[in-house]
Amino acid sequence: MCGIVAYIGEREAYPIIIKGLKRLEYRGYDSAGVALLNNGALNLYKKQGKVANLEAFTEDKDRGGSAGIGHTRWATHGEPNDINSHPHASSDGEIAMIHNGIIENYDSLKRELQRKGYSFKSETDTEVLTILVEDIYKNSDISLAEALRLALQQVVGAYAIVLISRKNPRQLIAARKSSPLVVGIGKDNDFFCASDATPIVEYTKKVVYMEDEEIAVLDLDKGLKLYSIDDVAKTPYIQELELHLEALEKEGYDHFMLKEIHEQPRSITDCFRGRLNADEAWVKLGGIKDYEEKIANANRIIMIACGTSWHACLVGEYLFEDLARINVEVEYASEFRYRNPIINEDDIVIAISQSGETADTLAALELAKSKGATILGICNVVGSSISRITDAGSYTHAGPEIGVASTKAFTAQVTVLTLMALSLAKRKGTISDSTFRTLLSELEAIPSKVQEILDTNDKIKFISEQYQHASNALYLGRGSSFPVALEGALKLKEISYIHAEGYPAAEMKHGPIALIDEEMPVFVIATQGTSYEKVVSNIQEVKARKGKIIAVVTEGDETVKGIADHVIEIPETDEQLVPLLSTIPFQLLSYHIAVMRGCNVDQPRNLAKSVTVE
Ligand code: M6R
Repeated sequence: MCGIVAYIGEREAYPIIIKGLKRLEYRGYDSAGVALLNNGALNLYKKQGKVANLEAFTEDKDRGGSAGIGHTRWATHGEPNDINSHPHASSDGEIAMIHNGIIENYDSLKRELQRKGYSFKSETDTEVLTILVEDIYKNSDISLAEALRLALQQVVGAYAIVLISRKNPRQLIAARKSSPLVVGIGKDNDFFCASDATPIVEYTKKVVYMEDEEIAVLDLDKGLKLYSIDDVAKTPYIQELELHLEALEKEGYDHFMLKEIHEQPRSITDCFRGRLNADEAWVKLGGIKDYEEKIANANRIIMIACGTSWHACLVGEYLFEDLARINVEVEYASEFRYRNPIINEDDIVIAISQSGETADTLAALELAKSKGATILGICNVVGSSISRITDAGSYTHAGPEIGVASTKAFTAQVTVLTLMALSLAKRKGTISDSTFRTLLSELEAIPSKVQEILDTNDKIKFISEQYQHASNALYLGRGSSFPVALEGALKLKEISYIHAEGYPAAEMKHGPIALIDEEMPVFVIATQGTSYEKVVSNIQEVKARKGKIIAVVTEGDETVKGIADHVIEIPETDEQLVPLLSTIPFQLLSYHIAVMRGCNVDQPRNLAKSVTVE
C-alpha cells in the first residue's frame, strides 16, 4: 500500500512525479503529496484525495525544481486528511520524507522524542521517523544517510522510504525493508525511485531492485551508492526492465479492469506460450524444472495466498489432487503465519501472488523457509519480493494488472497451476497419454473460447441491468466451480459494494437458503460435468423459494435454460478447465453492475492493489 516516486537530475521533477503517482494510484488513493527542492526552498504540498486534487491544489504554487519526492497514500496511522498526508517534514523544515509501510514501534519512539521537546503535527508513524532522523542528524557530525541508517536501526516494522533535504540538494536517500523500492538509473546522470517500475519505464530501462535493509544514496556527483543497514557497502545489481509503456495505458477502454478482462485471450496465451505443445504432447515450466522431482514426490503441497490468488490456489488444489494425485492444503497466508503450522523439510510451499508483494504471503513464505520447506512462487510482477525470495517459481506473464480487482491475473494463475499439475501428472504417471493430450489441446483452445464469451458482453450487460440494484447476492458452484463462485462473489462485493457470498452449492441448505427470496439473485455455475445433475437440483431448490437464478451453463444446455431466469452460455471444454471460462462472465457482470451503480471500478473504496501491510 502507498506509492512513492522520487526524481533527481536536470529535468523538472514535478511532472515526472505527478505522472508516476498516477501510475501508482492503484496502491492507495486516500491522499497525495509532493516535496520539491527549488532555489534553496523545500516546497511541500499535500492534499486529501486523489492525485488530481493535488494537481489542482498546486496549480498556482511554485512547482519548479529538479529534485523531488511524491507519495500517494493508503492510510494506516491517522485518518486520510491533508495533515496526515505525506511527505512529512522535520520540525525544522529541512528534511522531508515519504514512506510506504508501518513503523510498529512508532509510539515509543514518539514518546522519547516528545520528552526531548519535539512536537508532532500529524498522527502518522512517518512523521515520527522523520523527526527521529532529524534528531540524530542535528545532534551529531554525520551525513544524513548515516543519520537515516542509525534511525532505522531503532525501527521495528516495514518501510520503503525516500528522504530529501535542503542541505543536500544533489542527493536523495532511499531505504527499504519489506516494502518494495526500485531505483532507476537515468540516461542523463539522473535517478528515479519508485514503489514499482511503472513510473520509471518511460525514462530508463536500467533499474536496481533494492533488497531488504538496504540504503541507497542517489547522488548527482558520486552516483548510486548502496549500503546495508549494518554499513557494509554493496554493489548495485543493475537489471534491464522488460516492461512496455503501452501496457500501462487504458488503450481506449473506459477502465483498466475492462481492458484487463478483454486482454485474457492474450494473457492466457502469453502464460502458456513456450510451455506446452499439444501436437508433441509436452508441457514444461522452466522455472521449476529443477524442483519437479521433489514436488512430484512430496507428501503434500501447501498453497498460500490472499484474496483472488487464494481462490486460484483452491482451483489448484482440485487440479493437483485430481491430475497428479498430490495432497494439497490451501491456506490463507495471514492465518498460516500466525498459527504455528507444522512444516518440515519435505514440504513444498507454493505462494501465489499477482503483485508478489503481499505482506502476509511474504511473511508466510519466510516462515516456511525458516522451517526448511522448499518455497516456490507464482507471481505476475517480475522482480517482485516473492519472486526473489523463493527457491524457484513461474511467472504468470499476464502483463501489468492495474485495476484493483484482479481478473487476468487470476486466469493466468490458474493456467500456470494447470500446467504444473499436468507436468507433475505426466512425471508421476497419474494421467493417461490420451487424457494428457486432450487436456493440452483443450488448454490451447481456451483463449479463443474466452474470446467467444467476451463476445457475449452485450447479453451479460443486459443481465447486469436487471440486478444492478440488488443488495445481496449468492454465488454457488461445486468442485472446482466452488472457488469460481467465491471469486465471483469477491469481484461483485469489492467493486460494486453489493454484499455477496460464495458457497459450495450443496452447502446452501445448511444456512444460506434462509436468505433466499424474490429479491435474491443467485449466480450458479451449472456446466456439464460430474456434479451437473446435483447442481440442477440446487437450482430447483432456489427456484422453489422464488430466488432469481442466473446460471453459467455449457453451450446448448436446455435443462437449466428451462428453469433459470437467465443463462450465460460458455463453450464446452474439459471439466478441469472450466474455471478458466466460467469466471469470465462473473468478471463482466461485476464490472457492468459496478459501472451502473456509479462506483469507481478501478479504485474501489478502502482498497489498494498491493497490500503491503498486514
Ligand atoms: O497481489 P496478490 O495477488 O498477492 O494480492 C492478493 C489480494 O490482495 C488480491 O487478490 C485481492 O483480493 C484482489 N483485489 C481481488 O480482486
